[in-house]
Amino acid sequence: MFLVKLNKFLDWFKKMTKYVRGTRDIFGKDAEKFRFVEEVCRKTVQKYGFREIILPTFEEISLYVRSVGDTTDIVEKQMYEFEDKKGRKLVLRPEGTAGVVRAFIEHNLKDVFALKRFFYYGSMFRYERPQKGRYREFYQFGMEIFNEGGPAGDVFLIKCICEIINFLSIKNRLYINSVGCDVCRKKYREYLVEILRNMELCEDCVARLDRNPLRVLDCKIDSHKVDNIKGMTEFLCDSCGKEYSEIRKFLSSEKIDFVEDKLLVRGLDYYTGFVFEFKGVELDAAQSTICAGGRYNNLVKSLGGEDVVSCGAAFGIDRIVGMLNEGLIKNKKVRVGISVVSDEYLSVAFKIFDSLENKEFVLLGPFSGKSLKSQLRIFNNEGCNYAIIVGEECANGEVVVKNLKENVQKILKIEEVIKELV
Ligand code: HAM
Repeated sequence: MFLVKLNKFLDWFKKMTKYVRGTRDIFGKDAEKFRFVEEVCRKTVQKYGFREIILPTFEEISLYVRSVGDTTDIVEKQMYEFEDKKGRKLVLRPEGTAGVVRAFIEHNLKDVFALKRFFYYGSMFRYERPQKGRYREFYQFGMEIFNEGGPAGDVFLIKCICEIINFLSIKNRLYINSVGCDVCRKKYREYLVEILRNMELCEDCVARLDRNPLRVLDCKIDSHKVDNIKGMTEFLCDSCGKEYSEIRKFLSSEKIDFVEDKLLVRGLDYYTGFVFEFKGVELDAAQSTICAGGRYNNLVKSLGGEDVVSCGAAFGIDRIVGMLNEGLIKNKKVRVGISVVSDEYLSVAFKIFDSLENKEFVLLGPFSGKSLKSQLRIFNNEGCNYAIIVGEECANGEVVVKNLKENVQKILKIEEVIKELV
């Protein structure tokens, strides 16, 4: 008997279609939290003139190889690559900056808008080992600013991020560094290669050492071995050093606390100069970065555009939602259930529905074939404030309005119902 049941269960289990590892179904309170965070980000950046850009979910592979960099973990190991029916090599976007820059160049957005601030929201795809706070499909809210140099552009971006994080009451710490320009980074790379050559490194780092030694600093296996080496800031040229020091000065005068992290280089190759990461203080160290970005002054030019300085950042929405206090989401709308004693009253119930539908109510019902008791149970469980009960009183143009929170009810003329609910 037990074996028969077990086999039946295994058959059912085999047939069941399951979600793909690293993806999630987001529903109920979590879906509300996602929308809430997106809305807070959206409203905040729109106050500062950011315009939305809705990007394609997939792009040509060469875009990411040329921007994120061919020696990064993202490009080497994490991209969802596929060929379409014509053999084009495409990638599900692992991040949004490259797509925004491509669109900026392609549509000549430099000349279309005086203010060149853009934001985007959507899912990104990276083949990483899934765990709490790390998914293969995850959501980013990103901001990109073109043609605004440092220190004002960088400090403004940080202020904007702080406004969002503070509104969401997320406990966090800001880590900053500068990865310099091509000139100063060349000297740092030489220093790194010399030091790192004598260390025992993982296979990936050995392979990348000559091409991109900075990657060793954010390697999950080797980064702890380099704690005591010099940071990039000791190699900055005069201009990068001055800009970095001005940014720190402005952050301090704006009362924005930060910690300097001399080995922060970020996992993407396009950065130049100022880089930063906001970490949630209550999250596991490995998945604690909730928003990150920096300056990428060379990217527009290197992808074929003009010489346009740029900076930006992206929030990891999944991680922010994971830290969000539910109490912040206040649903102020009055919830009203419309019930019928029997189906013969449905047409009156639909008329009442029509009279309420454009007002600020959440409306539930009417339902067919359910007892009044089960309709009221649904409304109670759904947190309704009122139930309108349509029954024989409607012959006199009246209905019962029940206050579900106080458990009292009265009979009202249908025209008076709205007044009672607001
Ligand atoms: P990123 O640091 O690769 O930067 O990603 C930004 C944020 O996305 C991370 O700080 C993290 O919160 C979230 N994130 C990344 N990977 C995952 C994952 N597997 N699961 C959950 N959340 C994740 C960028 O993508 C740059 N494009 C940011 C930028 C914009 N820089 C300049 N402009």
